[in-house]
Amino acid sequence: MKEKKIEITYKSVAMDELPDEDRELIERAKGMTFRSYAPYSRFHVGAAVRMDDGSIVGGSNQENAAYPSGICAERNAAWQASALYPGMRMKKIAIAARNVGQGGADAAFQGSPISPCGACRQALLEYEHLYGDIEVILYGADSIYIFPSISSLLPFSFTEF
Ligand code: THU
Repeated sequence: MKEKKIEITYKSVAMDELPDEDRELIERAKGMTFRSYAPYSRFHVGAAVRMDDGSIVGGSNQENAAYPSGICAERNAAWQASALYPGMRMKKIAIAARNVGQGGADAAFQGSPISPCGACRQALLEYEHLYGDIEVILYGADSIYIFPSISSLLPFSFTEF
């Protein structure tokens, strides 16, 4: 029997340590939280994808009265990115969230970063495998984390594609 270990390396950074283009991506993700449709959870999530050609594609969570029909901000952004730029690498994705249920329509951003759900990780992983690593920037008002790839957030994922 052999015990094995998986380690994840990620960065904890301050806003002023980031290059302008990453700050811009975060601002787009933050802005997208104001375009969320989340009347049921009142948890407004925004995501912004930086494409290989420098373009940015935003997405927000969209809920539905038939609850499972809703979609997370990350998959919304990634699917829009793939539809608008088929075959193009998504270099980075930034994510931000505001809990409108607690703070009202202009609620502050979450202090701690929120992390993409398992389904979003798997969906993003497929684009990563096809086109190259997608850096993940998790924005929180108190801390910002940067992961080098989706796969670093999803060990032992399904990769038979
Ligand atoms: N949600 C996202 O959009 N992204 C995440 O990473 C986690 C959760 C959405 C789904 C749902 O609309 C709401 O947040 C509450 O779970």
